[in-house]
Amino acid sequence: MVAVINFGGQYAHLIARRIRELGVKSELISPDSNISTVKKLAPQALILSGSPFSCYEKNAPKVDLKIYELGLPILGICYGQQLMAVQLGGQVSSHSSKQFGRELLKITTSALFENLKSSQTVWFSHGDQVDRLPTGFKIIASSKNAKIAGMEDSQRRFYGIQFHPEVTHTPNGEVILSNFLFKIAKAKKDWNLKSLKEDIVNNLIKKIKNQKVVMALSGGVDSLVAATLLKEAIGDNLFLVFIDTGLLRKYDLEDLENVVKSVNFKNLPAGRQGFRIVNSQSRFLKILQRVNDPEEKRKVIAKLYFAILEEEAKKIGNVTFLAQGTIYPDRIESAKPSKHADKIKSHHNVTLPKGLKLKIIEPLGEFYKDEVRKLGKILRIPQEFLNRHPFPGPGLAIRILGEVTEDRLKILREADAIFIEELKKAGIYNKVGQALAALLPVKSVGVMGDARTYSYIIALRSVDTVDFMTADWSKIPSDVMEKVSSRIVNEVRGVNRVVYDITQKPPATIEYE
Ligand code: XMP
Repeated sequence: MVAVINFGGQYAHLIARRIRELGVKSELISPDSNISTVKKLAPQALILSGSPFSCYEKNAPKVDLKIYELGLPILGICYGQQLMAVQLGGQVSSHSSKQFGRELLKITTSALFENLKSSQTVWFSHGDQVDRLPTGFKIIASSKNAKIAGMEDSQRRFYGIQFHPEVTHTPNGEVILSNFLFKIAKAKKDWNLKSLKEDIVNNLIKKIKNQKVVMALSGGVDSLVAATLLKEAIGDNLFLVFIDTGLLRKYDLEDLENVVKSVNFKNLPAGRQGFRIVNSQSRFLKILQRVNDPEEKRKVIAKLYFAILEEEAKKIGNVTFLAQGTIYPDRIESAKPSKHADKIKSHHNVTLPKGLKLKIIEPLGEFYKDEVRKLGKILRIPQEFLNRHPFPGPGLAIRILGEVTEDRLKILREADAIFIEELKKAGIYNKVGQALAALLPVKSVGVMGDARTYSYIIALRSVDTVDFMTADWSKIPSDVMEKVSSRIVNEVRGVNRVVYDITQKPPATIEYE
């Protein structure tokens, strides 16, 4: 594997994804990881990521200097290059204006740039830059604004680049990463989803043996793919439940019933369509009364959710494990706040209650969303279901700002169904990353017929994203938006205004709470 030391740069995740796309396992690790943790991972190479920090800042993240003595090839990207330069005796200077965007790069002969022409378009995003090389290094790339845009010490196999090879705006970025992996680090390919699927199933068999597993399907892709892997591994010892929280969308249950029929899950307690539905709407509504704070909402929902799962496990009897559809980004976004990153929100399936007796199994804990979809394809789950947009565990509760009530849920469900239906009709649904409607609990004045109205506002949000960590708002044609808006105000009682959210993530998140 290749360890990407994550200094908190916005593209750090992309680096790991690109490495995996090239067939090598990659994971993000914290700069605070001690040297024995790094050794234990037995990486084939190290990559130092970008960072929002400047490397001379007081709290700037650093790596243990012993990292440079492991004999491993290292590629520093942006801040990673600057830190490497400073830690090895060079110098970095701060520039007040940021260099941001595409630029022309002149390169010299280097193993890192094999098969590339001497002039390259690359993407920069930085304020600081290296202005004195450490001993043993030479310049391998320059741009108009950065004399040392690339540096190497080929003896020690240390490379640094000021630009970002991981973003698509650097057209030959993949060649550069591939050169680093295969020409410089001589990395072996070890990341192939087909063989990984076999590994996951075999590991599940070994770990679970003939014990029982309970798992809640959420209606989303992740839990379904995880359940399908488990079904292949342990067959009848998998017990699936579906907790109807009442916070679902209009079509969630029906969609799930359809797909579960085609995946053919069976042998479930009191099983209807291969899974047990636990009707819990009133319990959830009750605990959400007068809860306005987003984190509080997430907490009370998660608590009840896991309590219900434990009740179900008791009914089944002798259940050892609770399986979860957690994927890699869920773990990262809910990470405990650290020096270099804040906790953004408590993802539902990662925030486990204290004292939970069941042991947790997360078959997809290592994978990104697009990899999960590819695994789903290998498992022959119908494509239509794999293309479904993500839907968060706390459901519509985090799309109703403020208190969740039955009335508000009903309004939001109708508005959301219209939005999604029109996106599908227009052939847009599969082109965007995630689309949703949210209810803003403020009322505005309108006029309908000849009468004054005073009703809620529905916010529509649709984002284009690959990894859900960063996202851009979707440029949906105005005629489609017009149809959606007019249908919502005409068909949904209690709404007289529709707005479209045009904020990127960051600074806004995809969900509203
Ligand atoms: P945000 O709102 O943080 O969301 O930009 C990023 C992605 O995560 C989904 N999300 C969740 N998924 N449980 C989940 O399973 C949760 O509690 C949760 N909160 C957000 C969100 O829908 C988006 O795809």
